[in-house]
Amino acid sequence: MSDDFQEFVRQFKALTDIDLSCYNKPQALRRLTAIRQKLRIDSLPELLEALKSDPALLKESVDRLTINVTEFFRDRDYWQVFKDNVAQLAARTLPLRFWSAGCASGEEPYSLAYMLINMLPRSCWVIKASDVSNRALETAREGIYTDKSFKNLTAEETSLIFDAIGNDMYRVKNRLRQCVTFFRHDLLLDAYPRDIDVVLCRNVIIYFTDSAKRTVLSRIAAALKPGGLLFLGGSEQIITPADYGLDRVDVYIYKKL
Ligand SMILES: C[S@@+](CC[C@H](N)C(=O)[O-])C[C@H]1O[C@@H](n2cnc3c(N)ncnc32)[C@H](O)[C@@H]1O
Repeated sequence: MSDDFQEFVRQFKALTDIDLSCYNKPQALRRLTAIRQKLRIDSLPELLEALKSDPALLKESVDRLTINVTEFFRDRDYWQVFKDNVAQLAARTLPLRFWSAGCASGEEPYSLAYMLINMLPRSCWVIKASDVSNRALETAREGIYTDKSFKNLTAEETSLIFDAIGNDMYRVKNRLRQCVTFFRHDLLLDAYPRDIDVVLCRNVIIYFTDSAKRTVLSRIAAALKPGGLLFLGGSEQIITPADYGLDRVDVYIYKKL
């Protein structure tokens, strides 16, 4: 099984560019088993053959292996703390460059755009958002969601963020969509942007091996300007932030020294 997994990782990388060897192995194996069971496929070599001959299945498997569940204002309480820290940063320096890394289908950068549009002049900030999954990025660019994504929003916020477009579908308003530029970026492979003031990298590194986590955190820290902020997910504390030139300002928020 271990050899099969290694060979699967090698060939999956050739097919998709995604390096599963940097992901938590037991988690990746569990997801592969779930995919196999759904397709009634007995082994990883057989799954590989199925993926090679079915591009739609390959895309779906990328999504399942990279895990792109998300929602607007995920962990709402932390967003308030985050907003306070962004306000403090904005009092010292403007304009601000934000990067939502691992943005999935866009709910996170659009939440950020809504937060900022109510906080700072539009000319004072830009938001870039990236993900490894092209499929997630397609959804993000379209900005169309069902009300399942709204559970953290009040009715008033929902009406300020979305236009109803029928069939229980809602589109993020133009003025918010225009605030976010999406691009494909693999945190394990690609060069990182520079001179970023605030990185949101939430619920992404949790799926990586410890070694890949360390590399990604070092590279994010290098991408930040001194005094810049890193906003992590609800189960992603950094135990020794000083190792990355970071200081903890709150449980999930770190500042570049
Ligand atoms: C669970 S979602 C998190 C989405 C959002 N940040 C949030 O907190 O709700 C994880 C996202 O990380 C992306 N991802 C996984 N591996 C990645 C990689 N190597 N580089 C960039 N993004 C990656 C997945 O495609 C997925 O969209």
